[in-house]
This record gives sequence, structure tokens and C-alpha cells, in this order.
Amino acid sequence: MSSYTAAFRVWRGDADGGALEDFRVEVNEGEVVLDIIHRLQATQASDLAVRWNCKAGKCGSCSAEINGRPRLLCMTRMSVFSREETITVTPLRAFPVVRDLVTDVSFNYAKAQEVPAFVPPPGVAAGDYRMQQIDVERPQEFRKCIECFLCQDTCHVVRDHEENKASFAGPRFLMRIAELDMHPLDAAAGAGVDRKKTAQDEHGLGYCNITKCCTEVCPENIKITDNALIPLKERAADRKYDPLVWLGDKIFRR
Ligand code: SF4
Ligand code: F3S
Ligand code: FES
Repeated sequence: MSSYTAAFRVWRGDADGGALEDFRVEVNEGEVVLDIIHRLQATQASDLAVRWNCKAGKCGSCSAEINGRPRLLCMTRMSVFSREETITVTPLRAFPVVRDLVTDVSFNYAKAQEVPAFVPPPGVAAGDYRMQQIDVERPQEFRKCIECFLCQDTCHVVRDHEENKASFAGPRFLMRIAELDMHPLDAAAGAGVDRKKTAQDEHGLGYCNITKCCTEVCPENIKITDNALIPLKERAADRKYDPLVWLGDKIFRR
């Protein structure tokens, strides 16, 4: 078992501003970045704020940026860095800072609320829903999401453009819409909710230019772009160019 001393640079501050602070800290074999943040709290910076819960990559709480890349602190092994390099840990850039490494991610909860919930099929009692595995295989992948919001943080549509936040749901919630649109029992259409149309008109699907940065940072390895966003775009385009839909829209608008 070999230990060494690493150079860490951690952002300290709050909504009024802050700065990077340098530390030298012990690292032991097998540790992850969250272990080092905890050691800093225990030995040098007892008031260092960090959000975490499971330390197992499952709660989605410990999201931050390590050397500028959105990552889970608890799933980033120290062994991926060289012993000589300085490791910089900063809060998620797309969301307002609360303190140190903790950000206010309520943007995401607001976006979640804007997506109409699953609409149960009429005439089927709860508990009597039946689906074939083949029909749920595609949306099932999206259920692995741990809501870490790393994809939301990295997407350039909002990362550098605060003004886009009002009209863009972000990859996580566009994926949610795709999931519901692919759900074999979702009866939203019968309840007057056209998920493909609202994805375009209300949730900013058109802002996504499939850069795939969201997919690259997803700790659950969900193929957000290829399996959710591109199919949703294709379904929305099919809808737009469907002559019956076009005629319906014309009649409805009159
Ligand atoms: Fe995190 Fe992936 Fe879910 Fe995005 S899709 S919130 S990156 S788990
Ligand atoms: Fe953003 Fe992902 Fe699209 S990063 S642009 S939502 S492919
Ligand atoms: Fe739960 Fe990192 S502490 S995902």
C-alpha cells in the first residue's frame, strides 16, 4: 500500500464570489476524489461544503467538476491522475453556487415539473398494466438515470447561456420525454398531450445540436443522444411532416 501527497486546488466561496485554494493532502491506495475532500474537511478545512450521500455512484449528489470535467466525486479514482498533477475541484458551472462545491440545482427540479407525468391507460386498473419486455427495452435504459445532472451541467446550450434556461429542458428531461413517448402504455396523446410537439415547442428540443457532450459525462453510460434525443428528434420530424398531422393542425388553427 503506497501513500503519497497530492496537490489539490479547491474552489471556496459563495454566491458573492470566491477563489481557488491550494492544499497538500495525503492520498492512499484505492481512494477516490471524495475521500480526499473528506480528508481535507477532517484535517485542514472543516467548513468545506460538499454534497454527498451514498459514496457508491447511486444517489447523484456528489456532482462537481474535476479539472474542468463534470464528474461524480465518489466515482473518480485518484489513480486516474498522475501523482504529480494538481487536481482542481470546482462546483458545477451551469448552476448557482450555494457554498464551495455545493450548487443550487433547483433548475432541474423546475424542469422536471414541466414534463407532464405518465398518463395511465384508460380502463385498466392499477396493477393490471401489462407490457412485453420487447416494448420496454428502449425506454428501460433511461430509467438508470441517477439524476446527478452532470449532463445538464455540461450541455453547452445552458452551460454558457443562462438566457436559454427558460426555454430548454436539458438532456436529462428531453430524455424523460423520449422515455414517456416510447412507453407502450402512456396515454398522454388521448389526454391531449402531444409529447413530440411539446418537446419541440415547449422544452427546446431544437436547441440540441447533438454534440453528445451529455452522453460523454453520464456516469450510468446512458446513450442519451443516440438512444433518446436523436430518436425523439426523428419522431418529432415524422410528426411534423405527417400529412394527416399537418391537416389536423390546419383545421385546429382555424
Ligand atoms: Fe446523470 Fe446520466 Fe441521468 Fe444525466 S442522464 S442526470 S448524466 S445519470
Ligand atoms: Fe446538449 Fe446533449 Fe444535445 S450536450 S446539445 S443535449 S446532444
Ligand atoms: Fe452518491 Fe456520489 S455520493 S453518487
